[in-house]
Formats: sequence, structure tokens, C-alpha cells
Amino acid sequence: MNYKEALQSNIFSVISKAASELQLETYVIGGFVRDFLLKRGDAKDIDIVAVGSGIALAKKVASLLPNKPNVQVFKNYGTAMIKTKDIEIEFVGARKESYERGSRNPAVENGTLQDDQNRRDFTINALALSLNEDSFGDLLDPFGGLQDLENKRIVTPLDPDITFSDDPLRMMRAIRFATQLNFTIDPVSLKAITRNCKRIEIISKERIVVELNKILMSETPSIGFKLLEKTNLLPYILPELVALKGIDEKEGQRHKDNFYHTLEVVDNISENTDNVWLRWAALLHDIGKAPTKKFNKKQGWTFHGHEFIGGKMVYKLFKRLRMPLNEKMKFVQKMVTMSSRPIVLSQDSVTDSAVRRLVFDAGEHVDDLMTLCEADITTKNPKKFERYHNNFKMVREKIVEVEERDHVRNFQPPVSGEEIMQTFNLKPSREIGIIKHAIKEAILEGDIPNEYEAAREFMIAKGKELGLVEHIER
Ligand code: CTP
Repeated sequence: MNYKEALQSNIFSVISKAASELQLETYVIGGFVRDFLLKRGDAKDIDIVAVGSGIALAKKVASLLPNKPNVQVFKNYGTAMIKTKDIEIEFVGARKESYERGSRNPAVENGTLQDDQNRRDFTINALALSLNEDSFGDLLDPFGGLQDLENKRIVTPLDPDITFSDDPLRMMRAIRFATQLNFTIDPVSLKAITRNCKRIEIISKERIVVELNKILMSETPSIGFKLLEKTNLLPYILPELVALKGIDEKEGQRHKDNFYHTLEVVDNISENTDNVWLRWAALLHDIGKAPTKKFNKKQGWTFHGHEFIGGKMVYKLFKRLRMPLNEKMKFVQKMVTMSSRPIVLSQDSVTDSAVRRLVFDAGEHVDDLMTLCEADITTKNPKKFERYHNNFKMVREKIVEVEERDHVRNFQPPVSGEEIMQTFNLKPSREIGIIKHAIKEAILEGDIPNEYEAAREFMIAKGKELGLVEHIER
């Protein structure tokens, strides 16, 4: 079969010309071919395999391109990369990999295209298109990858035990592709993942997180997390989620399965946001429920303080997975810690002051928090579903209303500490903190508007109450 139409971009003619000048058999392989056949939109990465030196080919290609781009060479890996403004091209020499027993370092030997295809992860990623002049666009598909694309099947080209032990990250890649593409993992490959799950321990956290993020950014992330759980990979990666699994029953009272509930929340939120950190917040919003779970006769199952404990667990989890500990982590932590606030609020009558406090505490993230809480509604009772959503709609309207009037989203005290000191001729002291706090409280409660004049007047009254005397300059 020929797919010349996949290779219309000028870059492929340049690579083909370079290959023929160097007399190197050359192919485009992997994700580019797969995504073209799946009509998955424009690829950002192109993987080129040359039977011979990939580095020499990259250099030749760069010399033939009008702007002579830089070639990044990774000598240890025998690969090279050219980055243009919209595409990254990676060049490798075809390899035959044989693993020496007792060693994790592959002894890499040069090989044929077929050798190289053998050592790739899945049949759908081993598809190659020829860039050679006499066969330009021909598909080389030794393992029936095309058929697997049609059947929506993830399957390894070799015995899966070999493919997965070559690089255990591929177990997660299988699950990631199944999630992104909505494919099924072949039962033999799936069993091999379960059998080899422990091997994921040798993979760096950074590479694992790349896959987790891709699963999370898929249309239906739950597919991936269910597979991670089913194959027993999840305990090695996110044990906090595994701990949410199961339903306990005592004296006829049951709680919901918080693992499956969490996955529903993640799927829900994915319909409304492409912010990966907000999706993380959805994934982790209930992790504090496992360590706080208690049963008592009066209240049944309780999870007191789970949001606070959950927030603390977010930090530990990010640290363990070597994820950023900067404002991204703080955002996730804040979302988890505040995740019940709008719920509590919408159960009571929605007062202005409660909304003002919510906006004050959530600050610029109040909309994200509302999105999380709406996703958290997983009740199967249609009446309740509608009622909860309507309540949150009301909270959202109130947020806009209160914000237009009071501007507490990025609260700046309308009267500064400096001014309090001058007014009462004070040195830095306890009273200043007391007055500032009282002003903030009065604004949040709605006793005074968030304006300078009103706040100044309130400050003077509060100062007098504390026995301070207004200092008047003569
Ligand atoms: N590959 C592999 N084993 C890995 C990683 C990659 O065999 N652990 C091979 C596959 O043939 C894959 C190609 O290298 O198609 C390129 O890898 P990568 O760029 O990571 O993935 P893509 O398949 O291009 O997909 P995506 O861009 O969605 O990650």
C-alpha cells in the first residue's frame, strides 16, 4: 500500500533527497504514521529511522534546508534532532537490541528496518513509510499494525514479556494509548502488564508523570485509571487512589466507593476544562477520605477534615512523584482543601456574606473551584442532580453580583497599617493587627462596603473602642 499523500510536506522531499545522496535507506516511523492513518490532525513530531547513521542523515538534511537549522546530537543514544518553529524531527539509526542477561543496559547493534520495527512498543507504532526514491510512500507493516488500527487494538510486536521488559514504561504507554485513542489492549498484552507490574519501579518518576498527564488530558481519563488499577500498576504510582477503593458496611450503613466516584469527577471535569492542574485537583480531591474514615452510630460514616488532610497529602504526593512544588502544587492543594466549601454553602441559604468569604478565600481561583464542585455532583438521582446544579448556578450568580459590588477577589485592605499608625500615633503594635482584622471582617460580613471612606470611619470607631485617641496634627 502506498501513502504518498502523507508525505506532501516539503520536509519529506528534503529528507528523501538527503537519504539518496548518502545512499541510506530511510523511513518515517511511529506516531506520525499512526496519527496520519487515524486522521488525528497535524503531527508535531516526526521520527525518522535510517539504516545506517541517523546523525549523518540529520546533518545532511540540515545542510539542504534553506535556513540551515541547528542539529542537536545525542551521541550516547546515536540520535539527532532538528527543531523548526513548528515541528521536531528526530533521527535514529535502525537498531537491533539484544539484552545481556543481568544488565539493564542494552547492547545496541546496528540493524535492518525490520530489526528496528521488532523492538518498538506496539504494532500500531511500528508502521513505517518509505522515504526512498524508488518506493516513496510505501507502507511497511510487518506485524499487521494497520489491521490493529482498524480493530482498535494495542498489541506488542513481540512476546509482551520481552517488549515490556525492554522498557517497562511501555506498560503505561499501552494504557495511555488505550485511553487517548479509545482502543482495547490485547488480552495477552494486558495479562503481561499485570504480570510485570512491579517492574514499573525501575522507571523514573518524571517519565511516569508524562504518561499520567497524557491520560489525564484525554477525553475520558477514567479509562486509563481503571486500567492502571486493573493491571495493579496503580499501587506503585498513586497508592492514595487505591486506598479509596471499596465500600464498607456497618450496621446496614454503606458509604460510596470513593475511587469510582473520583473517576467520575475526573471525567466530568474533563468536559469543562483543559487545565491539567484542575484535572489533577479532581483526581486528588477526595484522597483525604481514606485516612479520615470513621464510623459512629449517630452519624454513620464520616470523613471529618478530609479536605485539610487531603491538601497536606497533595504536597507529599507531588514531592514523591517529582512534580513541581511551585504555584501549580499550591493551586491543586488549595482546590482540594476548599473542595467542600461551595457545597456547604449551597446547602444553606446562599447569603451574601458566605459568598464574599468564599470569593475572598479562593481569590482568583474561585471559578475553578466552582467547576470542581460542579464536577463533584455524581448523584444518580435526577432530582437531586438538578437541585445541586441549580444551587451552584445560584452561587455562581451571587459570586458575580457580590464581586461587582465589593471587589474582594484580590482583596487589598482599603486602609493600610501605615494609616492606622498615623491616625492613632502608634508604633507597630498588636492594635494595628486587631483593627485591620476587624475592618476585613466588617467588609466580609457586609457591615461596611469595601471602600476607603467607610473603612476609615470604621477604623476610627474601632480605635476608640480599644481606648486609642485620634492624633490630630496641628
Ligand atoms: N517507542 C517505543 N518505546 C517507547 C517509546 C517510544 O517503542 N518506550 C517508539 C514507538 O515506535 C513510538 C516512537 O518510538 O511510536 C516515538 O515515540 P514517542 O514520540 O514517545 O511517541 P509517539 O508514538 O510519537 O506518540 P506521542 O507523540 O503521542 O507520544
